[in-house]
Amino acid sequence: MGIIAPSILSADFTCLGEELVRIEKAGADWIHIDVMDGQFVPNITYGPIIVKACKKVTQLKLDVHLMIEKPDHIIPSFAKAGADYISVHAEACTHLHRSLQLIKSLNVKAGVALNPGTPLSSIEWIIDQLDFVLIMSVNPGFGGQNFIDSSIDKISALSRMLEEKHSNAIIQVDGGVNCDNIHKIHKAGATSFVAGSAIFNTPDYKQTIQTLRQEM
Ligand code: DX5
Ligand code: ZN
Repeated sequence: MGIIAPSILSADFTCLGEELVRIEKAGADWIHIDVMDGQFVPNITYGPIIVKACKKVTQLKLDVHLMIEKPDHIIPSFAKAGADYISVHAEACTHLHRSLQLIKSLNVKAGVALNPGTPLSSIEWIIDQLDFVLIMSVNPGFGGQNFIDSSIDKISALSRMLEEKHSNAIIQVDGGVNCDNIHKIHKAGATSFVAGSAIFNTPDYKQTIQTLRQEM
């Protein structure tokens, strides 16, 4: 069974609480929260206070994707705000192993996100620290971009790498995921699917999440 993680980046922020209630009723598994700092990525979004607000209205796990340069100083605030999963970018952490240990010390599941241009070898020696790996299938910064097709081979290679290292880390895919490509992404080995525009830009979230599951 795959994990559907709608990204609130494409939600209607004039009524975020209602959007969260709707998406939970629609059968989502996790809520994906994209944190952007205007440095690591060109866009700026939201911080721990939005995570705290989400925690008040949903029972779903909060999956916080930190697109932040050198994130260690702010990781404890996201944990305190209620994050259940935190991913940091390999490209943004000077001491990646230390960042992961920090997340785990706060009793939060730890993940590493890799940009499309970043090789899998960047996580080879820290795999034992990982609860999940986030493969970016677009360049981070914005919702609504097209899925980069070479991500499929990267997911397959990661799947083999995790098996060889006897790791149970979840493979999460983020960017351009939709009802038409979820099958090949799942087939390649991913089990957690972030989808922003493919869910929030449709009128019936429940129907869309059902279709994503059927097409998987
Ligand atoms: C991109 C974010 C994604 C984004 C996905 O930087 O990490 O989570 O919201 O949006 P879609 O599904 O529209 O590509
Ligand atoms: Zn994301």
